[in-house]
Amino acid sequence: MKLILAPMQDVTDLAFMRTLQRIHSLPDAFITAYFRSTATTCALAEHNLRCIDENETGVPVLAQLAGSDAPALVRDAEMLLKRPGVAGINLNAGCPSPLVNRHGAGAGLLRDIPRFLHIMQELRACVPAGQFSVKCRLGWEHAENEFPDILSCLAAAGPDEVGIHARTRRQLYGGAPDFSYASTAVSTLPCPVLANGDLNTPEHATECLAATGAAGLMLGRGAVRNPYLFRQLRGGPAPTREEMAEYYCILAEETGRVLLHKRTEKGHCNRMKKYLAFCYPDFTPEQEYQLRRCTQVAEMLRILTHGAD
Ligand SMILES: Cc1cc2nc3c(=O)[nH]c(=O)nc-3n(C[C@H](O)[C@H](O)[C@H](O)COP(=O)(O)O)c2cc1C
Repeated sequence: MKLILAPMQDVTDLAFMRTLQRIHSLPDAFITAYFRSTATTCALAEHNLRCIDENETGVPVLAQLAGSDAPALVRDAEMLLKRPGVAGINLNAGCPSPLVNRHGAGAGLLRDIPRFLHIMQELRACVPAGQFSVKCRLGWEHAENEFPDILSCLAAAGPDEVGIHARTRRQLYGGAPDFSYASTAVSTLPCPVLANGDLNTPEHATECLAATGAAGLMLGRGAVRNPYLFRQLRGGPAPTREEMAEYYCILAEETGRVLLHKRTEKGHCNRMKKYLAFCYPDFTPEQEYQLRRCTQVAEMLRILTHGAD
C-alpha cells in the first residue's frame, strides 16, 4: 500500500513535511501544492520550491502543476524536472477554486476533455517514464455522466499513477466521497490508482483500500489533524496525548524555522492557524475560541498542550 500526503496549499509545506519526519510518521511520497502554470508567467512560487530544494526527509517529492495551457505546462514541467529534488510531475485536475477554474485549470480541465487529453499527452511526452501522475476529481458536476469519459481520457494518455479525489467539483470539499468510482478506475486503468477524500481514520482508510482495491491512499486534512495516521496505517499505535502535544510543539518549531528572518510573532501564529484549522474538532469551543485569537506562540502552545483558561 502506497501512502501519499495529499497536497494542501499553505498547509502541507516544508514545516509540515519536517514535522512528519521528526515524529517518525512519514508517507511514501509528498506532492507540493500546485505551481500555477500560465502562458504569461513562468515564476515558480518560492514557498513551494522550498519543499523541493530543502527536502531532507528522504521521502520523494512530486511537483504539482495547475494550468490549462499545454506549452506553459510543458515549459514548467521541464524547468522543474531540472531540479535534483523533483521525483516527478503531478497534474492538478481537481482544484475547485473559481480563480483557477475560470482559466480552465484544476477541476476546470474536466470540463474540456479534448484539452485535458492533449495536456496529458504533452506532459506524458516530456516527463520520463514512471514520473508522471495525475490527481483528479470525478467530474465537474455529475460523476455518472462525466467519469466514464475522464477514465477513457486517462487510459489514452497513460500517466504512471492516478489519484482520485472521489468527489465532483460541485461537491467542493463536502458531501460524501463516492469510492465506487475509484473501484471502477482501479479495474479500468492499467496504472496504479490511489483513493482520496475524507480518509481520516485508520479504520476508514483500510476499509476504503479493501473496498476499492486501490494501490494506495492520499491523505490530506485527516493527516494534519492526526499526523500519526501514516504510522498507524503501517501497523503502529495510535498517538498518545503526549505525542499529540509533541506534534504541536514540533510543528510550531518547524514553522518558525521555515519563516526564518521573516518571522514575526503574529505571522508565526497565523501560519500555525493554517494547520490548526483542521485540528479544532479535537478541542473544546472555548479552546478553539482562544486559539483563534492567539497572537503569541507560547500562549498557543500552552492551550494546545494544557487546555484553555
Ligand atoms: C486548504 C486546502 C488546500 C488544498 N490544496 C491543494 C493543492 O494545492 N493541490 C491539490 O491537488 N489539492 C489540493 N487540495 C485538495 C487535497 O489534496 C485533497 O484532495 C482534499 O482535501 C480531499 O482529501 P482529504 O479529505 O484527505 O483532505 C487542498 C485541500 C485543502 C483543504
